[in-house]
Amino acid sequence: MSQQIRIFDTTLRDGEQCPGASMNLRQKLEVAHQLHRLGVDIIEAGFPISSDGDFASVQQIAKEVRGPIIAGLARCVPKDIETAGAAVKPAGKNGRIHVFLGTSKIHREFKLAKAQDEILRLAADGVKRARALVKDVEFSPEDASRTELDFLAKVVESAIAAGATTINLPDTVGYATPEEYRRMFEFVIATAKGSQNVVFSTHCHNDLGLAVANSLAGIAGGARQVECTINGIGERAGNASLEEVVMALRTRRDYFKGYSTQIHTREVVKTSRLVSRMCGFLVQRNKAIVGENAFAHSSGIHQDGILKKRETYEIMDPKDVGWGDTELPLTKHSGRHAMAVRLKHLGYHMSDKELVSVFERFKEIGDRKKFVYDDDLAALVDNQIQNAQEVYALEYLHVTSGNTSVPTATVRLRYGAEAKQDASTGDGPVDAALKTIDRITGHRGVLKDYQLRAVTAGKDAMGEVTLKAEFGDGQTITGRGASTDVIEASARAYLNAVNRHLLIGAKAPAAPAAKRAKPAAATVKKVIKPRTAKA
Ligand code: KIV
Ligand code: ZN
Repeated sequence: MSQQIRIFDTTLRDGEQCPGASMNLRQKLEVAHQLHRLGVDIIEAGFPISSDGDFASVQQIAKEVRGPIIAGLARCVPKDIETAGAAVKPAGKNGRIHVFLGTSKIHREFKLAKAQDEILRLAADGVKRARALVKDVEFSPEDASRTELDFLAKVVESAIAAGATTINLPDTVGYATPEEYRRMFEFVIATAKGSQNVVFSTHCHNDLGLAVANSLAGIAGGARQVECTINGIGERAGNASLEEVVMALRTRRDYFKGYSTQIHTREVVKTSRLVSRMCGFLVQRNKAIVGENAFAHSSGIHQDGILKKRETYEIMDPKDVGWGDTELPLTKHSGRHAMAVRLKHLGYHMSDKELVSVFERFKEIGDRKKFVYDDDLAALVDNQIQNAQEVYALEYLHVTSGNTSVPTATVRLRYGAEAKQDASTGDGPVDAALKTIDRITGHRGVLKDYQLRAVTAGKDAMGEVTLKAEFGDGQTITGRGASTDVIEASARAYLNAVNRHLLIGAKAPAAPAAKRAKPAAATVKKVIKPRTAKA
């Protein structure tokens, strides 16, 4: 049996399905290109029937990203399968349709209201329909780990007979233990006819924190494809984390009997950061492999040991996953070419027009701080990518605040050819700035989450604000903004959420004014010079 483990990345499908992690087309393309550089074998680019946006992004990724297999998800429903087939068509022979159907008793009885024989027929029909469109068809009996084993083997057998080339056995609700998950693979592979002709796959959710352990157990049971996401993002507690699975196989190759993947591990940290920025999900500090503390040693004994011999307290070389791959920071004297080269290294694809606009902000930031680090640059670009189609652009912000004065903000926004200006007081300078934006746009959001982090170290560090705002129609939108000034960063982040809400399509008129959560007050007097608005 082959020792090669295929990595099926579902960051753009299952990962993006997690609330608050949605990405626009441009962000998904950036992630897909980076996944290609990372060396994944399959990119599940989306669920084409679920929305026009998902269809467009799967189709565009299938057009642009050459190398990996591009998969589109579909229920066992003719319209879903045809739509997925159309979306992955530009990938040619690299297009895959991934059909799924609930098979467990609870899914059959409560979700689908179908008997076992109907499930068998639907699975076979779905796979046949997909095979008429593409040669590469994956079938997933959803909730496989809670499905009666004999029935599961029958469903798998009928999917294989109908032409499935990959069989995925998902632990949809993260219920299985590693031992059970491994035994399920062993049983199905030994029982279902035709098993030797297909690739078996794991797909594990992290509800009990076992997703990575279960994926590794699935490999021990015979799986040769692992479905996972960058940073482990995904529904509820997330999916198996790609970086953890890959590095476990690599670091413990002695134990895992030499199973290997094609992943270029030095791209791991870069990919993790890109995904985190694109979907607005911060990586927890103590996250294995990619968290900021993953290789930080604070105790004296550990530090001493590391200095004497790294392996005393480190089981992996941080360089192997791309830590420490930073180069000399840029300064305000750096030219556009130098900036463009850095951006390319960081994995961004920017058009000449976009580079002009990022360079404008780069110069602004370069004037305010001595060094512009990779993370500063990434924060500027993300802003650019998120605001690619901005409805309102921040032109001017003036805030006064102090312990004895009423915080007041004056804001001017560009709205097409028009400049709109207003002023407001607030409970603090950030509140005043956000209230003024509300007055100008007529859109009111309630802050549900507000996080400020320093992008890099030092007193002149850029601050990056990530916030969630709930609008009157019930939609909660993430916004992000960066600046050397935290109030400007907050205004940019909030405006970003307003713009995204307008672009996604506000579902109903804005709700009446609601009380906004108060971010920490600051004492500040800040003026941003007007700058050219981006259309
Ligand atoms: O968790 C799951 O069962 C899924 C399927 C669609 C494969 O995501
Ligand atoms: Zn899933």
